[in-house]
Amino acid sequence: MNEPRRVERQQTDKGYVPVYTTAIIEQPADYPAADHDTWGKLYERQRELLVGRASDEFLQAQDAMGMSPDRIPRFSELNEILGRTTGWTIIGVEGLLPELDFFEHLANRRFPVSWWIRRPDQIDYIAEPDLFHDLFGHVPLLMNPVFADYMQAYGAGGVKAHAIDPQALVHLTRLYWYTVEFGLINTPQGLRIYGAGIVSSKGESLYSLEDDAPNRIGFDLERIMRTRYRIDTYQKTYFVIDSFEQLMQSTAPDFTPIYARLHARLHAQDAIPAGEVQGTDHVFHRGSGEGWATDGDV
Ligand code: PHE
Ligand code: FE
Repeated sequence: MNEPRRVERQQTDKGYVPVYTTAIIEQPADYPAADHDTWGKLYERQRELLVGRASDEFLQAQDAMGMSPDRIPRFSELNEILGRTTGWTIIGVEGLLPELDFFEHLANRRFPVSWWIRRPDQIDYIAEPDLFHDLFGHVPLLMNPVFADYMQAYGAGGVKAHAIDPQALVHLTRLYWYTVEFGLINTPQGLRIYGAGIVSSKGESLYSLEDDAPNRIGFDLERIMRTRYRIDTYQKTYFVIDSFEQLMQSTAPDFTPIYARLHARLHAQDAIPAGEVQGTDHVFHRGSGEGWATDGDV
């Protein structure tokens, strides 16, 4: 049995920093009733919101995996069906991992999931990834063969970028952010959500699709790699893919020359602000920018 969660953040001379632990943690045999309740509340609220807003692939995968509001899913049960479909495995962790560990897990089709769920007072917002974000948000699309391959390729690409230089990682991380976490997909029925950071948030599920404020711009690999993002507010810009195949194909080429080009040309100040629209963008929606914070892009 795991010990209760201890330190989440440690104070250093740089302020509070997350504590990274690499250990794989077994899912507890059971959770307190209050934890199952938190899962159930979040599950029901999000599912109701997401029908007609999340991509069909995402919703169907959740059903196929047997996720339900009744209780926190067992990793072992999810692993059986994942293993049969795309060969992915969920592993339990305490929280964020050191970058290279995270990449290596993905490259080996292992997806790290926080074993603990947020407290009831954190239903609407939590700064770090908990079990609800990871399981409800990330795991369903691992059932999709193309997306499953994309995640593995991203991990392998991360291992490579890590060996190149820190700037390569900055560029690669932006791709993860604007696809895996905050991606939208265009369908005949309209824009739909597939990013885990959106589907696990009530507010952002509505904001990303329906609010006038944010930009919605067509997927463009190098453009995304140059674009700063938000970690403490909703995104100012969402990028829209046409299909998971498009995502896979446009990210398949070796990034090494792209990193070299971006690196030679760009310094930190050349990065594109999170809310900027450029002349070459394929604009689905130009945001009004209402309510945007004036600084704080990462
Ligand atoms: N083609 C990428 C590279 O060479 C690997 C990758 C694939 C990265 C998909 C991200 C997503 O680094
Ligand atoms: Fe996430």
